[in-house]
Amino acid sequence: MPHRPYVIDRMISAKRIAARVEALAHEITDAFQGTDKLVVVGLLRGSFVFIADLVREIDLPVEVDFIEASSYGDELTTSREVRILKDLRSGIEGRDVLVVEDIVDTGFTLNHVLNMLKARKPKRIEVCALLDKPSRREVPIKATWTGFDIPDEFVVGYGIDFAQRNRNLPHIGKVRFTE
Ligand code: IMP
Ligand code: MG
Repeated sequence: MPHRPYVIDRMISAKRIAARVEALAHEITDAFQGTDKLVVVGLLRGSFVFIADLVREIDLPVEVDFIEASSYGDELTTSREVRILKDLRSGIEGRDVLVVEDIVDTGFTLNHVLNMLKARKPKRIEVCALLDKPSRREVPIKATWTGFDIPDEFVVGYGIDFAQRNRNLPHIGKVRFTE
């Protein structure tokens, strides 16, 4: 199906993202100081750019693993049904875990993934989300660390897509339909 034409208005520059990622990584490094290994779990696919930048600023032994949960289709809506399409490769029992998410919107995705991971008895589990849309929340959940709070806008770039497009944009912008 052809797309309605849209433009992307810049919201957060690559420079601001980089500075914030560095600050988050320092806080995470301090919080997990002394860990034998931090398992950094990225939620595919939207977190892949963020996790790549974040782990390079974390000064701890890390392992990187991924989970893929489906929430959005190719629509601007959230479905409440969260399905796990790809699970972790390694067990996390007794481990220090950091879940890395691109956006916390209604909270359904993060809530589902966290409940699933907590059932595996990690020693400690925290969440770092790049973006948060607090006004959209339906499940009361909050990331331990958040990069930026944003208004209720549909955003793309820095790994985040609109129907699989615009993930390669170096900054974060909001989608504005022109028709
Ligand atoms: P939630 O379950 O409603 O919190 O949805 C979280 C997921 O929806 C995020 O991981 C994103 O993949 C996706 N999402 C939410 N808001 C946006 C957006 O503005 N642009 C692109 N994807 C989004
Ligand atoms: Mg996502």
